[in-house]
Amino acid sequence: MSFPKSPLPLVLKTFPHVLHGGDYNPDQWIKYPHVLEQDRELMPKAGCNTFTLNVFGWTALEPREGTFDFSYLDAAFERIQSFGGKIILATPSGARPPWLAKKYPETGRVDKSGRKVPYNNRHNHCWTSPIYKDLVTKMNTRLATRYGKDSKLSGTLAMWHISNELSGECFCPLCRASFHRWLEEKYVTVDAMNEAWWTRFWSHAYDRFDEVEPTDSCVDGMLLDWKRFVTWQTCEWIKLESAPLREITPDVPITTNLMGTFHQLNYHAVARHVDVVSDDQYPAFDFDSPHVLRGAASMGFRNDLFRSMKDRPFFLMETTPSSLNWRAPAKLKRPGQHQLEMTQAIAHGADGTMYFQWRAGRGAMEKFHGSVVDHNSSSDTRVFRDVAEVGARLKKLTPLLGTMPSVKVAIVYDWESKWGLSLSGGPDVSEARYDEIAVDHYQSFWKRSIGVDVIPVDRDFSRYDLLILPQLWNIDDALAVTLRKFVEAGGTLVATHDTGTCDLFNRVHMGGLPGAGLKDLFGITIEETDRVSASEIGALKVVEGDSLDLAGEGLTCRDVKALGKLTTAKALLQYDHDFYTGQAAVSENIQGKGRAIFIATRLSEVLLDRLYASLTTRLKIEGVLTLPEGVVASERGAGYGRFIILQNFTKQSQTIATGSQPLECLETQQSITGNLTLKPLGSKILRRAS
Ligand code: GAL
Repeated sequence: MSFPKSPLPLVLKTFPHVLHGGDYNPDQWIKYPHVLEQDRELMPKAGCNTFTLNVFGWTALEPREGTFDFSYLDAAFERIQSFGGKIILATPSGARPPWLAKKYPETGRVDKSGRKVPYNNRHNHCWTSPIYKDLVTKMNTRLATRYGKDSKLSGTLAMWHISNELSGECFCPLCRASFHRWLEEKYVTVDAMNEAWWTRFWSHAYDRFDEVEPTDSCVDGMLLDWKRFVTWQTCEWIKLESAPLREITPDVPITTNLMGTFHQLNYHAVARHVDVVSDDQYPAFDFDSPHVLRGAASMGFRNDLFRSMKDRPFFLMETTPSSLNWRAPAKLKRPGQHQLEMTQAIAHGADGTMYFQWRAGRGAMEKFHGSVVDHNSSSDTRVFRDVAEVGARLKKLTPLLGTMPSVKVAIVYDWESKWGLSLSGGPDVSEARYDEIAVDHYQSFWKRSIGVDVIPVDRDFSRYDLLILPQLWNIDDALAVTLRKFVEAGGTLVATHDTGTCDLFNRVHMGGLPGAGLKDLFGITIEETDRVSASEIGALKVVEGDSLDLAGEGLTCRDVKALGKLTTAKALLQYDHDFYTGQAAVSENIQGKGRAIFIATRLSEVLLDRLYASLTTRLKIEGVLTLPEGVVASERGAGYGRFIILQNFTKQSQTIATGSQPLECLETQQSITGNLTLKPLGSKILRRAS
């Protein structure tokens, strides 16, 4: 079979291979030259082609102020170049050298209590310090000049990696002043800010911007702005670090490694400042746990979030092939598990999977973190063989590079709503709960191998048939208008409890919820919301004539129950317990050519599955294949030869009916028709003509 090549962009323009490799810290091994020589031999043996160098590597390059020595890094470039490998070069700003911390105390962070944080750990620098900005700019300029365009090593430099897992806040006078300037730019007048934050509360009306205390916990509008400000600071930091790199090496793309649904930063905003997004993920599926499929679905959600972030393939920057020193229990990967985990990332749109880290250090706090090469330096280990097996598979996956799935369902994931909601109401609406509920909705599709994009609020919705808003708390008029247009044009919109409660300043919408006119779109006005303890499971009943055929097992709900009056909507399900018996739990409102469905409560898993099965049937949205429970398929490459990636998350062999189309196994190039068998934790990559 021959297939047209995908015209989509590669993660690395000049390197048409799936990335495989990891963080490499040769600075820790300068005094062990024989170990470094072993790396030269072991890296290609593991099927690795790309290494991230210089993460937290400042002291090796500048051991004291103004004394530079790049020889170890030159040698590492040469070593990796010698077998045709590529380098992702990190800027070392994530860990200040001790000399720098001592000489320039301004560069350190101040915590919430106003205490200067003693030199400690990593990610301990202030975001505003002019001295640190200047030192980092100079260091990045040196790196770009040395390893950029004209050097004999330049062909090996494939990508820049800004710092590492950017995170944290600083409350020093410089950062506070920066916050006050940011507020002034946003609100122009103090009066507008007071109005936005409802500051008459507890006598908080401000007279000047510089009176605002960012640690004050009672004005949630301010706290929401502080979170936006920290994201802005982080983006400004990326821009600062990128400036010399973009100027000196304009053709080298820039990334920075993110951390899934990390609560502190709005990654949709951060992603705009890098060329390629990368995620650090440490899946640890426990195949003995009853929750393994939920864990796998959560990882699928995360991968889809990253692919959707820039609407192009991403890559997995860090994972471990073995156990984790920071997780309890620190279980080893079961046979087949590592291959399955990496294949899952590829299945959802990753164009590379890499490790933290290549070689385990001898000392300090990560010495027992799983790595490709352990302290025995041998390639004859189970972990090394697992990695080499992944490497061998990835080598065969070049045709997949740049390909994307064709998707008709989207879930909106909004960091600002996650913050707005959790800042409003305490533990019942925590940030973790926001994620959980988003995954509740996602997993109904994942289980049935239906592709989903996980998108920001400002994405073009018109390309989807089904749009889901789990707890989209903050909505303004403009967004409400876009949602109405989506429905009127024929889209199916599903929103849950808590959607549309507040405006973008976290003030409750007046005149009935969901606000900004959404109560008319959904044909329901919510009056009260009950939040109950986890053990309180409530009964539901199907309303006669329910157009979604929701009757069946699991007619229950939990955690949160919004209560409202129907205006134009029809109830499909009603509460059947307590004082809210008879009120709508799920309702549907026809608007224009489309439908708006409001789910007022947290439905049981089987019920939500049934609801989405019914909606997708109505919309003619199908799964990639029909598969046994625990086996899922993802698709990439619509239009360019379709690739089907099968993943078996069960401990049993599974027989898969692949249908009548001719398929080819990408690894073995054997044709497959009819049934195939997936071994326990097995996975396979197939292709078929579209
Ligand atoms: C990541 C980090 C790495 C390493 C790893 C350990 O958060 O980027 O440098 O510390 O965790 O799992």
